[in-house]
Formats: sequence, C-alpha cells, structure tokens
Amino acid sequence: MNVLYMPNFNDKFLVTLEKEFKVDYPKTNSTTYKSLVNYASDLNLPIQRWYRYKEGYSIKLVDKILTKYNVKDGDLIVDPFCGSGSTLLQAKINKCNSIGFEINPFSAFLAKVKTQDYKKQDMISFYENVSELHNIKKKQNIDIPKLSTIEQLFKKDALFYLLTIKEEIKQIKNKRVADLIMLAWLGILEESSNYRKAGNGLKIRKTIKKTIRDKEYVKKIFFNALKKIGEDLEFAINISNQVSTSVIEDTCFNLNKYTKKNSVKGVIFSPPYANCFDYTEIYKVELWMGSFVKEYSDLKILRKRGIRSHLNGYEIESKIAVKSVPELGTLVTELSQKELWDKRIPKMVEAYFNDMFHSLTEIYQALKKKGFCVIIVSNSAYGGIVVPTDLLLAKFAKHLGFNVSSINVARNIITSSQQYEETKKYGKYLRESIIYLEKK
Ligand SMILES: C[S@@+](CC[C@H](N)C(=O)[O-])C[C@H]1O[C@@H](n2cnc3c(N)ncnc32)[C@H](O)[C@@H]1O
Repeated sequence: MNVLYMPNFNDKFLVTLEKEFKVDYPKTNSTTYKSLVNYASDLNLPIQRWYRYKEGYSIKLVDKILTKYNVKDGDLIVDPFCGSGSTLLQAKINKCNSIGFEINPFSAFLAKVKTQDYKKQDMISFYENVSELHNIKKKQNIDIPKLSTIEQLFKKDALFYLLTIKEEIKQIKNKRVADLIMLAWLGILEESSNYRKAGNGLKIRKTIKKTIRDKEYVKKIFFNALKKIGEDLEFAINISNQVSTSVIEDTCFNLNKYTKKNSVKGVIFSPPYANCFDYTEIYKVELWMGSFVKEYSDLKILRKRGIRSHLNGYEIESKIAVKSVPELGTLVTELSQKELWDKRIPKMVEAYFNDMFHSLTEIYQALKKKGFCVIIVSNSAYGGIVVPTDLLLAKFAKHLGFNVSSINVARNIITSSQQYEETKKYGKYLRESIIYLEKK
C-alpha cells in the first residue's frame, strides 16, 4: 500500500542536488543539443548512415566536444560504451586515436566495420562481390538460427533468401569486404521482418501487410543498402591509415587493462540508462541471424556482462556499495516502499549505480590530468520517484575528484501517461542531459 509513503527524495534531495550543480536548461525548443543526442540527424552522413543505431548519438556532438576541449591530432579518446562507434568514427575523422569497449558482439561488429581502415583494392573487390550477389543459387543445407520465433519474424521466402546471402558472404575471401556486405545485410533485417523495434522489444507491424516483406522486397532493400556503402567507400578510404582505432569486445570495467593510467585525453559516452532497457533483447534478431549468438546459453552470458540497467537474467545483490552518495541510499529505500510494476526495480537501480560508479572510477584512473569526460544520459522515474541519473553521476564524479563544469539539458523525455501524472510536478527532471567533467 502506498498510503504511508511520504515523499522525501523528490522534495528534499532532488532539489538540493540540483542546486549543487550548474544545470543549463535549453533556452528554446529548437536547441542544438536536442538533435545532437539523436542518431536520426546522422542518416545522411557517410558511414553513419550504414546502420541506424537508435540509441546512438550524432557524430556532430562528438565533433563539438572534441573542438571544445581543443583536442589535437594523435590524442587518445575512449568510449567505454561504444555501441555502433559514433565516438570512434568522429575521433578517426579528427585524426585522434581511439579505443571503444562494447559487450554486445553485434554492436561491436558495427563499430569495427565503420572504423576499420580500407584500401582502394577493397572498393574494387566490393563491387565485384556485390555484382556476383545478384545471381546467387539456391542452397540445400542452410542453418536456421535457433531463435524460437524466427519463422514468425520473416516470410518464408524472405528468410531463405537472407540466409542464402549469408552463406555467400561467408565465402568472400577479402575479410573487410565480407564485413561491409555483412553490415548491409544486418542493417536490413528489421526492415525485412514483420516486426519492428519498439520500446524494449519487438512489436508486430500493424499498418503494413506482411506479404510486402517478401524475397523481392528484401532483395531491393539489400542492394540499396549496398549502394550507400559503395558510395561512402571513397570517404572511408580517405580517413584510413592515419590513426589507430580499436574496438574491444569486453566490459569497460576492464578499461585499465587496455589503456595506461593517465594516458587518455578525453572520454565521451552514453551508457545504458536506468530504464529497464535490455540491449540483448532489442537486438536479438541481429544477434541470432548474424550468428553472434548460437544458443540461448550464449544470450544468457551476454546479458550478465552488461551494465545492470534491466531486469533480465542476472542476480541483483542488495548491498548499497555507494557510501559516497548517500542520496542513492534514500532513493533506493523510497523506491522499495512503493508498489512498482516489478519488485526488483529498487535493486536494479542500486545495481545500475554500482556499475556506473565502477565505470567512472576506471575512467578517472585512465584520464590524464586536465582530461575530460562527457556523459550523455537520461533520467527515469518509477512510481512517481525521479531517478536523477545525471545528478547522481555528477555527485559521484565530484567525490572521485572531477570538476563538474556543467550539466546541459538536451531534451525532455516522454514518459508513460501514468508516470507523467505521478511526476508532473517534477517534470523538469525527466530529461536527457550532457554532463561535462574535467579531471583536475
Ligand atoms: C547508449 S548505447 C551507446 C551508443 C553509442 N554512443 C552510439 O552512438 O552508437 C550503450 C551501449 O553500452 C553497451 N554496454 C552495456 N554494458 C556495457 C559494459 N559493461 N561495457 C561495455 N559496453 C556496455 C550496450 O551494449 C550498448 O551498446
């Protein structure tokens, strides 16, 4: 029952925390940051347009940050949650070395293909291989992924066409060309299927007839995707062989195993948010179809490796490891007194901050003196209680020794209508922000 609940966190701690930091609200609705925290604005940019990573941000935001901090050629930039590689790509364009960490093998693949070096010869080989793909022959033994819903996801002829192409890609000798074609193939899976990514999962398409997504449709969108990649190869070749870019398929908790302490000029990232969003669920079609997972046990392992931002598949320990941010203790206690839609939420929130504080500690050690760390993150709310991720991360960063120079609100976030009613009074805290930190 909620009757005994006396709001304390929102009214007391939230307001005090907000006062402690410089929070800049956008002056108008058409503010620049709003589009920069959104991947959609990159859909016309070379290489970025190869795959629409919905949770990604614009490379223009990365450019703005690199310029603000006067980053020089050869400086080292790190993205501990690199996703599709937006930070790494812009770092490469600006002639900076970079290292990205990513636990989802599908996302790591995207980041790698978008940022590896290409040669003129690859472009010739790319067009030769693409032309051969126009006339592929039917195959007898095709492996069908073990994902239980696979046959509902695709029309039968579309599925067989996709899997036949995948077999052809495996035969391509030039590894970089095979990667490029595989990326185009992965990039059309959602559009080829009867489902679409929505919220934290897949939803059946209601508006478009299933029959449209047949083999001919798939073929058309596949060759369109290859055309875009072909058009951008010149650009990819031009930015090649100037710097070193690595994508490490490991948790960012191991950041200091791969970088020297005090060696990194800047860290730019957007972590998963404390919003119950499970990346292995939303990208499950790509993970299974691309053979990044082959068994359900592989998926289970993956889920355990990520930041604990969702409720799927891991144990959540309950101890509060964060003595440095007492507000977090209050928040978790209050959340546990509420009747939420899942009783594991308070523990998940606590585990999330444990993981985020762990990552920030690794980042702090890797950064040079006067190095910078910019975090793009969204707040959330459960049962009317705001989870002010931006302020709590800023508070922990300050505790570590960072100077918190500002928190820029990029946009307000849309919550469910129930959450909206419950948090109306605190609406300004429901936002996506950019936190600017500097190591003193
Ligand atoms: C918001 S996305 C990053 C998007 C990226 N900025 C872009 O533009 O493509 C967060 C990423 O963090 C990854 N991730 C989650 N836990 C991780 C961990 N412990 N170490 C490294 N990456 C992790 C997720 O798989 C996801 O791809």
